[in-house]
Amino acid sequence: MSEAKKVAVLKGGRSLERTVSLRSGAQVQDGLQRLGHEVVGIDVGAELVPALLADRPDVAFIALHGRDGEDGTVQGLLEAIALPYTGSGPAACMRCTDKVLAKHLMREAGIPTPDFHALRETSIKELGAAAALPGMEGSLGFPLVVKPAKGGSALGVKFARTSEELPGSLVGAFSYDRTILLERYVKGRDLAVSVIDGERSVPPDGSTPGRATALPVLEAVPREEDFYDYESRYEIGMTTFVCPAELAPDTTARAQELALRVYELLGCHGVARIDLMLEQDSGELWVLEANVVPGLTETSLLPQAADAAGIGFEELAERILASAFTR
Ligand SMILES: Nc1ncnc2c1ncn2[C@@H]1O[C@H](COP(=O)(O)OP(=O)(O)O)[C@@H](O)[C@H]1O
Ligand SMILES: [Mg+2]
Repeated sequence: MSEAKKVAVLKGGRSLERTVSLRSGAQVQDGLQRLGHEVVGIDVGAELVPALLADRPDVAFIALHGRDGEDGTVQGLLEAIALPYTGSGPAACMRCTDKVLAKHLMREAGIPTPDFHALRETSIKELGAAAALPGMEGSLGFPLVVKPAKGGSALGVKFARTSEELPGSLVGAFSYDRTILLERYVKGRDLAVSVIDGERSVPPDGSTPGRATALPVLEAVPREEDFYDYESRYEIGMTTFVCPAELAPDTTARAQELALRVYELLGCHGVARIDLMLEQDSGELWVLEANVVPGLTETSLLPQAADAAGIGFEELAERILASAFTR
């Protein structure tokens, strides 16, 4: 293990994913303590910066999901007080958190991401954007996916089967964010590829000469075929996970290669999880999004993928911690 450090684990906060973050944070604290670090957990709020200035830890481990902790806000503050922190920097956080921006960048770079249109509340109110809806529906077809530009844990992700269902889905997504996305629905399998920095345990098919490594591909398999209700599926654990996913070797290799390309393109550092769909009819892979602070609970996707690569939770936590010092 590396030298013992005083680590502040940042968790909780005001995000909609507060509960998951508290669980991620608790798990990370346990792991780091077992490794011999001096660990303090901070439930992030108005006292964050004063507490860090008073405590002066060596490093901050960011276990925050969603707003503030994943969108670059906390990262920017930590840079301002010159405190090393885990994971991606502010710009990468902003690129990944904003699905509209991330998808434009992927499209420009030739990385396959489902066709989409972005819609702002203000452009509906002030620019007459509603008149463009029929055209969007026509180009994307039905069913189509409606989601907040800055979401997480499938919150606000809705599927509209018909034109009649669209207004309800839009209102639902707008309750999460002032910018939303209409996206082509990809019928197929739900995959996730986590990427971590460092060279150990490089799988022969997932390695690139670069600094980052793709972990084995994970598949989220719904227990029931109710594809419209993602929110409850995530909440009540209606999903089982298979890792490594049972895929043709070339599909596995391509998923890992795409994940690494997205990781580099968006400028991620330390760790990230890329979500993809494997389209049933075409066999094509489509990148949905990149998460800069993947869940770190015992049942989260990244720890499961690491485990499949022979990387236990403590080693994973240590590697993420090390990313604070290699920026
Ligand atoms: N275009 C799509 N086609 C089919 N399923 C989708 C699509 N977009 C999202 N989903 C489903 O919703 C889940 C959450 O969407 P995602 O874009 O990853 O947002 P987030 O995880 O940030 O809420 C995906 O894992 C997938 O199961
Ligand atoms: Mg996702």
